[in-house]
Formats: sequence, structure tokens, C-alpha cells
Amino acid sequence: MKPRRRRRALPLATLVERAQCVADEVRAELHSVHADVHERWHTRLHHDDDVDVWLISWTTEQGTQLHGHGGSSGAFTVVAGELAEAVWDPVARELGEQERRTGDAVAFGPGYVHDVRNVRAGTAVSVHVYSPPLERMDFFDVDGPRGEEHLVRLAHVWTDDPEIAYPGELRDAS
Ligand SMILES: [Fe+2]
Repeated sequence: MKPRRRRRALPLATLVERAQCVADEVRAELHSVHADVHERWHTRLHHDDDVDVWLISWTTEQGTQLHGHGGSSGAFTVVAGELAEAVWDPVARELGEQERRTGDAVAFGPGYVHDVRNVRAGTAVSVHVYSPPLERMDFFDVDGPRGEEHLVRLAHVWTDDPEIAYPGELRDAS
């Protein structure tokens, strides 16, 4: 039996470079982009032992649940439009809001927890790279009084699909 190849993450700089390279391909219309207001559209453009690459579109108000990437590192870049990203800061123990504009690129390690949403009128398009290829998605909520907030892991799903829906009922934020 062939031994399973050890999973390793490529350097973050390589992941950013890869995301930007594929974003250039999208801008050159080498990949078709669709948008679906009922379900966030996404397609995997590449997969090998080290990395997988996804192309995602976000219509207005489409977004994720707060999530981690199951131990994968990654990078993403905005090809068109703008995305709002909430990133969990484990030191400040709070979610920090960031605007990611066209051309912006973000790299992250395996502990990264974030929530991405399109709050603008136009459709946004982004390229996401994961290394090693995604195997698990973790879903979180933030709990606790202000200043003492902490992450609560709600669920994990073994999947290679970064856009899989959170499998449970979301808590009422009110
Ligand atoms: Fe993510």
C-alpha cells in the first residue's frame, strides 16, 4: 500500500502569490464567474497534494458563518467588489472588522477564524487558496461579556468544500 503523503502547508507568501496569479487569470476571463442570489456560487479551479484553489462570488449580503479551516493555512484576494471580513483576535478577545477591497490579499495560518460577507450593492468575486488542501471546517460563535469574550466551537464538518453551510441552527444574536 502506498504510504499517505505527509500533509504540509506551503509558505504563506506562496499562497498569496498563487491567489493573485489566479485572480489575474479571472480578470483575463480565463475562468467563467457566475453569481447566484439564492446560494453563494463557488467552484474549485485546482487541487493537488499541497493546495486547492477556489473561485467564489458573493452577491449582496451573502456571507459565511464564523469559521476556521480545520488546520489548513490559506490566502485570499478580492478580484472584484469589496468584502467585509470579521477576524477573531485571540489576544484582544474580540472580532476585528476589516474592509477587503479589490486587489487586497490576506494570508492566514491554521488558527485563523473569520467571517466574510459582501455588504455592498455589487457582486464581489474572490479567489481562495488552502494548504494543505481543506479537510475540515470548524464553525464558531463568540460568547461571554465584552472584554472577556471567547470562541465557542459549534460544530466541525469533515469536508473539502470551504463553502459548506453550517449544519446547525445559528444562535439568535439579539
Ligand atoms: Fe474562510
